[in-house]
Amino acid sequence: MKDLNTFYIRTYGCQMNELDSEILITQLKARNLAQVETETEADIILLNTCSIRDLAEKKVLGKLYEYKKDKKDKIIGICGCMAMSQKETLLKKFPHLDFLIGTNNLLDITKVLDDFLSKNTQMKKLDIDYEKELENFYATRDNKIKASIAIIRGCNNHCSYCIVPQTRGKEVSRDSKSIINEAKYLANLGYKEITLLGQNVNSYGLDKPDQNYLFPDLLYDLNKIDNIDRIRFMTSHPKDITKDLMYAIRDLDKLCEFVHFPVQSGSNKVLKEMRRSYSAEEYLEKVNLLKSITPNATIGTDIIVGFPNETDEDFEKTYKLFELIEYDTAFIFAYSPRQKTYAARKFEDNISNEIKQKRLQKLLKLFHSILEKKYKALIGSKKEVLVESLNKDGIYLKGRTREFEKVIFKGDKSLIGKLQIVEITGFSYQTLKGKVI
Ligand code: SAH
Ligand code: SF4
Ligand code: F3S
Repeated sequence: MKDLNTFYIRTYGCQMNELDSEILITQLKARNLAQVETETEADIILLNTCSIRDLAEKKVLGKLYEYKKDKKDKIIGICGCMAMSQKETLLKKFPHLDFLIGTNNLLDITKVLDDFLSKNTQMKKLDIDYEKELENFYATRDNKIKASIAIIRGCNNHCSYCIVPQTRGKEVSRDSKSIINEAKYLANLGYKEITLLGQNVNSYGLDKPDQNYLFPDLLYDLNKIDNIDRIRFMTSHPKDITKDLMYAIRDLDKLCEFVHFPVQSGSNKVLKEMRRSYSAEEYLEKVNLLKSITPNATIGTDIIVGFPNETDEDFEKTYKLFELIEYDTAFIFAYSPRQKTYAARKFEDNISNEIKQKRLQKLLKLFHSILEKKYKALIGSKKEVLVESLNKDGIYLKGRTREFEKVIFKGDKSLIGKLQIVEITGFSYQTLKGKVI
């Protein structure tokens, strides 16, 4: 085997996976491997994978078939959720695949690599338990303005459609001191925004009842850190959103006014079969409470259309709820049965793709009309934007408001990394346009 000098990594899936890739990259660079932008240049190819829907897995399987034809002498590793959901099956199906590293073995990457090099046989590390050593590992991030921090890993919920509890194991909250230290470390490096990550950040601390320290407590402590301008969090399970959290959003100057609050469906029958443990009425009650405590907060959602047995009437209920709440951000997905989940075992995937797509498009259309109305009303208003980078077009600067709206405007590159007040002058699709004032 030739000398190893370079690696390529591609990340699929959610922000937690992005952070996990940063953790992997930090270690590979510390081992004197250089990150490259293309597979062709790489000695090692890593795919940090996602299993949430069939399409996410298909993309990776496609890559693996591609590498099968032309592996050369590259080392190929699969990390992340597909390693956890498919395990040995992947190794058997793809003999040219060299190792699997699961979501709780991020710090084993160099050891697995070394073991593979010395033994030259397929390797795997797929623990289901929390990786304790991660508590104090700080990744080096490419982005120098905003960073994610994992505060709780795993998921204890049992949403019937969801594979994440299988791929990430039980909920474990990270020690608060270690979170606060990492936030201070990032603040010292000049970071302006942190996003606290978890499958369900609102259950932070519930697994350690003796510590009597919950998500709002953490937010109050993080808000004291100088130099950080903004704190965000995601995701929130509606059942665990408390009044205390809403007060924190109202009262903490750094905590941004945006809550990702996924409803999934507006039909109580479907919600029950999804095992979401709230009714549409209870959900709406919480949204109304949130709107009354923090009137300027924006609200985001995830929705699954075409869950088994979802009727037109069920879908109409989702549509009506969406219309009533007027979401500010929305991710709408077609149901995709996942192996070994309760829903996949219990129900037939009996809604055709055509109907799923029709429902999805109908909700998207509604979403865009809501945004259009909201964004029109914003014209002339002034918004604080954290300037993140140059926009893709290379002309505008790009950033986000506290409420998570994307804004582009013309300005000097020296504004990148700063808070800037911008007057909204127009919009196109999901992007606001503005001018510096
Ligand atoms: N922990 C987060 C969600 C993680 S997955 C939460 O509970 O909010 C992100 C989104 O993917 C989910 O909110 C859901 O809308 C969608 N999703 C999960 N499993 C899915 C499946 N089997 N088919 C389609 N969409 C799914
Ligand atoms: Fe999946 Fe539900 Fe856990 Fe979110 S809360 S990760 S949807 S099981
Ligand atoms: Fe996908 Fe795993 Fe995230 S399944 S959405 S990468 S937790």
